[in-house]
Amino acid sequence: MEELIHRVVIEKKTFCVTDSLDPLEDADYILIDVQTPVDERYVPQYVSLKEVSAEAGKRMKRGACVIIESTCAPGTTSYIVKDIIEKSSGMKAGEDFHLAFSYERVMVGRLLHNIINLPRIVGGFSPECTRKAVWLYKHFVKAELLETDCLTAEVAKVVENAYRDVNIAFANEVALACESLGVDVFDVRRFVNSLPNDPSNPSANPVRNLHFPGAGVGGHCLPKDSWLLKYGLDTYGTFKFEPKVIMESRFRNDLMPHHMIELLKEAMEEMSLSIKGAKVCVLGYAFLENSDDTRNTPSRPLILELQEIGADVVVHDPYLKEEDGITIHQDLDYCLKDSDAVVLITKHKEYFDLEMARMKELLKTPIIIDGRNVWSPSEARSMSFVYKGIGKKKH
Ligand SMILES: NC(=O)c1ccc[n+]([C@@H]2O[C@H](COP(=O)([O-])OP(=O)(O)OC[C@H]3O[C@@H](n4cnc5c(N)ncnc54)[C@H](O)[C@@H]3O)[C@@H](O)[C@H]2O)c1
Repeated sequence: MEELIHRVVIEKKTFCVTDSLDPLEDADYILIDVQTPVDERYVPQYVSLKEVSAEAGKRMKRGACVIIESTCAPGTTSYIVKDIIEKSSGMKAGEDFHLAFSYERVMVGRLLHNIINLPRIVGGFSPECTRKAVWLYKHFVKAELLETDCLTAEVAKVVENAYRDVNIAFANEVALACESLGVDVFDVRRFVNSLPNDPSNPSANPVRNLHFPGAGVGGHCLPKDSWLLKYGLDTYGTFKFEPKVIMESRFRNDLMPHHMIELLKEAMEEMSLSIKGAKVCVLGYAFLENSDDTRNTPSRPLILELQEIGADVVVHDPYLKEEDGITIHQDLDYCLKDSDAVVLITKHKEYFDLEMARMKELLKTPIIIDGRNVWSPSEARSMSFVYKGIGKKKH
């Protein structure tokens, strides 16, 4: 990235960042990539999207092509952005200017790789708008450019993430079933996923890919995109339809941090202790392992619920110091010392190296709640730990 920035900013002078809106006036292409969060009632917040659409409309020239890259509820490009731009520009979409939706598939740590190498879906307000937008992406996307209309592209974006959310919820549900039946979900996962797939006839033996269950789902996209789909459906659907599997999956994944606390409660009861007044060491605050990315982290609701119950919570994360008013420590020994339980939320590589003997020495009470299948239950139990984990046998 550094090398690229140097080349285009310093050497070629083809890239510049500015807070001036003047460049909109002679731009051939205007890409809109502002944040599109949902509020606490899961309603999309389009303040920025509306603002930039209006600013672009006021200034852009005839023939310009506006491409929305932000993730939106289905219908947003045609029913919100188009109207704002038409009103502020006095021009007509598809006639005087081009309008398209083409979503981001970037991931933290893989921005350039994903932009260049992943297929790109380009949905125009009209076929001519699609062609105009595709022309731009052809310059830097090496993979296939898939053409469609803007509504289909918007649906594809949110479904792409809802698909993953539902799959994780399925794995979480199987994990809870395994806990109840007294089997290990990770054995079950290995066996299910061993089903051989015959590429010569995939439909005769479709591949199984049971996802990883765990302590919760975080990140910028997965917790919100199913809600964007529902919002689009409620607002622009031609008949009332409730996407039950998708929304129940959202709730299932949101419940996983609470389930971690239920496991902790069981473990504490086995030791005749209570969470109230106990010192609980939470390992990992970032939602993503080996990163400092905390967006919608499941650690936060878990910590707040533990504090509400009256636990003395100490949070460790090697990549963070302080986040959303929560103090985060980087000294692992300090956090483990005299704790009544260890609750692991994020599978940072540092925790795989954490030896049981060291934990045993430092903890006041040997309780492990493993939210990411990091430690071996048999090893922990052989060292007299009370071990509970997502999708694990209770004893
Ligand atoms: N970050 C990801 O991994 C990712 C992946 C896929 C999709 N997306 C989608 O891409 C969109 C952007 O996400 P992000 O992570 O880059 O968000 P972000 O919050 O990091 O960046 C948004 C940028 O927009 C700027 N902005 C807001 N209002 C503005 C205005 N009125 N004028 C000019 N600039 C303005 C902000 O200053 C900020 O720099 C979202 O819709 C998100 O859902 C993001």
